[in-house]
Amino acid sequence: MISPIIIAIDGYSSTGKSTFAKEVARELGYIYIDTGALYRAITLLAERFSLISPDNKIDEKGLRTLLYSESRPQITFRTIGPNNLCHTFIAEEDVENEIRSLKISDRVSYIAAIPVVREFVDQILRKLGKSKGVVMDGRDIGTAVFPDAELKIFMTASDEVRAKRRLNEMLSKGEDITYDEVLKNLKARDYIDTHREHHPLTMAEDAILLDNSEMTVADQLVWIKNILDKRDNEGIGRS
Ligand code: DC
Repeated sequence: MISPIIIAIDGYSSTGKSTFAKEVARELGYIYIDTGALYRAITLLAERFSLISPDNKIDEKGLRTLLYSESRPQITFRTIGPNNLCHTFIAEEDVENEIRSLKISDRVSYIAAIPVVREFVDQILRKLGKSKGVVMDGRDIGTAVFPDAELKIFMTASDEVRAKRRLNEMLSKGEDITYDEVLKNLKARDYIDTHREHHPLTMAEDAILLDNSEMTVADQLVWIKNILDKRDNEGIGRS
């Protein structure tokens, strides 16, 4: 039996990373980890504890104290409902919808640029990936968190496709938002994510590029299956 691997899926905002990663995990019987949800939950905590100002100035010392305090509210992933949907919780509160709101989307990249936050999240992710058999999506999984991941994919899509996808997702959740607002948020996040000092979003040298502008999820699954089959034939493992 060949051993399980880590699949790192990085890329720009709203390129469909989580949809693709979830499907890949389901196909392989792997665990899916949405690393952006951790940064979003920390952003919500920072707001609630008044550690981020209206103009996005962050109280880094306060944030460190909060993240490393014994009594901090625990962030967990739980499956809920008949369809086993994975939701993010802070203590016993389901914050899944709140962390996807535009308010949090507008601020999360500022929080994700803080070294103490990245260090905290990286520790959690490395523990979760220890036994392999995981698919993680994010911005720095293949470059910083798991630079030795056996398979790295870097996802992109046109700005228009990304904004339309995100708009539909947000409208379906009842958010009152326009295409232009969504596009502006995507571009702003891309800029901050690619220009931050600590672990910026960049394509790992050994990552495979997936531009899914013109692809359905089914097309993407065929695409990755071909890659995995080829690797199996070459003896590069997964179980
Ligand atoms: O994947 P997402 O859009 O939910 O991620 C939210 C933000 O979190 C994104 O704008 C950048 C940040 N992020 C990050 O810096 N590193 C990761 N591994 C995952 C997300």
